[in-house]
Amino acid sequence: MDIIDIIRTRRSVRKFTEEAVSDEVVDAILEAGRWAPSGQNNQPWRFAVVRDREIITEISKLTHYGRIVLGAQVLIPVFLDTARIYHREKDIQGVGACLQNMLLEIHCLGLGGVWLGEIIKSNIQMKSVLGLADDLELMAVIALGWPAENPRITKRRSLDELTVYRD
Ligand SMILES: Cc1cc2nc3c(=O)[nH]c(=O)nc-3n(C[C@H](O)[C@H](O)[C@H](O)COP(=O)(O)O)c2cc1C
Repeated sequence: MDIIDIIRTRRSVRKFTEEAVSDEVVDAILEAGRWAPSGQNNQPWRFAVVRDREIITEISKLTHYGRIVLGAQVLIPVFLDTARIYHREKDIQGVGACLQNMLLEIHCLGLGGVWLGEIIKSNIQMKSVLGLADDLELMAVIALGWPAENPRITKRRSLDELTVYRD
């Protein structure tokens, strides 16, 4: 597929089969994240990889979207390393690029995944569940697995609506 087809056909997948996801596949997803652009090449993202069912159950209690979390084979909580910030907004934008890279790789591999943002309200509890340092700040969790649904079609605004200046 061309990159534009990968971008256009990616959808958030929220239901997964029970088929296992290998470590090699997880590595490929993290690798896509690692190559995202970032301001001053600061690479402010940090990854956790969660497969343990008991920990997944604990994490499911931290969000309104617990059902999606419980159904996932793997969770990738993604953090901002606040100890290494050079410019907060730009570092957060870099983490966004990293998350999108991972979602595109997930789609490219035939897996399904969803970016969970609502869960960042539970930043402190997440670090407590995973035993992580205070200077990490939760930016999102990617829930993933092999898809068990054909996700609904989503719409986008037209380019005319989105373009505020063009000459
Ligand atoms: C910053 C951000 C936060 C999101 N948070 C959630 C979330 O908490 N729960 C959820 O089910 N989907 C979440 N999503 C997925 C969006 O709902 C989804 O990308 C959007 O509706 C477009 O659908 P599509 O990804 O299938 O094209 C989030 C996406 C982004 C970029």
